[in-house]
Amino acid sequence: MISLIAAIGQNGELGKNNKLIWNIPSDLKFFKNTTLNHKVIMGYNTYLSIGRALPNRDNIVLCHDINLINDEHIKVYNNIDELIAKEIDDEEVFIIGGASLYKYFYPLASKLYLTLIEKSDREADVYFPKIDDNLWNKEIIDENNENDINYKHVLYRRK
Ligand SMILES: NC(=O)c1ccc[n+]([C@@H]2O[C@H](COP(=O)([O-])OP(=O)(O)OC[C@H]3O[C@@H](n4cnc5c(N)ncnc54)[C@H](OP(=O)(O)O)[C@@H]3O)[C@@H](O)[C@H]2O)c1
Repeated sequence: MISLIAAIGQNGELGKNNKLIWNIPSDLKFFKNTTLNHKVIMGYNTYLSIGRALPNRDNIVLCHDINLINDEHIKVYNNIDELIAKEIDDEEVFIIGGASLYKYFYPLASKLYLTLIEKSDREADVYFPKIDDNLWNKEIIDENNENDINYKHVLYRRK
């Protein structure tokens, strides 16, 4: 079962220059608590931007050259169909970015865990796919403010 987890601005902003745009430590805690002990699947740019394997999770990276990553804590695939066949089953797995993986997996996802950041004043070069509200039931998990940023955690379940 596929879940996407992402923090996005009001226009779907995800990142710029291979970095996150906003600094919200409490949201990183939410990300950690939600993904802990699950498989996390990411693209190579997101792996580079994190810079290491995330502890207490099965880390899976998609990239064209599997020799680029030499880390016993990371499973690397260069074929997305093989990754899906081997890694996705009834257990919840998390797609943790970036834009290219969200775009590919959005139509396959059963759930979206979105941090909706009430800001649109920062430039971005990558965006989350456009969400068709008719396809999802939404549940607000919590609403917060940190570093002068209002944001909500919202769980989208596919209807
Ligand atoms: N706001 C958030 O919640 C959030 C979360 C995660 C990331 N981000 C942001 O998203 C940005 C990165 O997104 P991105 O789209 O540039 O990169 P990405 O999705 O992390 O990685 C893209 C790379 O993954 C590999 N890849 C993707 N599809 C593949 C396929 N079918 N087969 C083989 N390899 C494949 C390719 O690597 P190679 O071509 O190099 O092999 C591709 O260049 C950064 O700004 C990051 O900060 C934001």
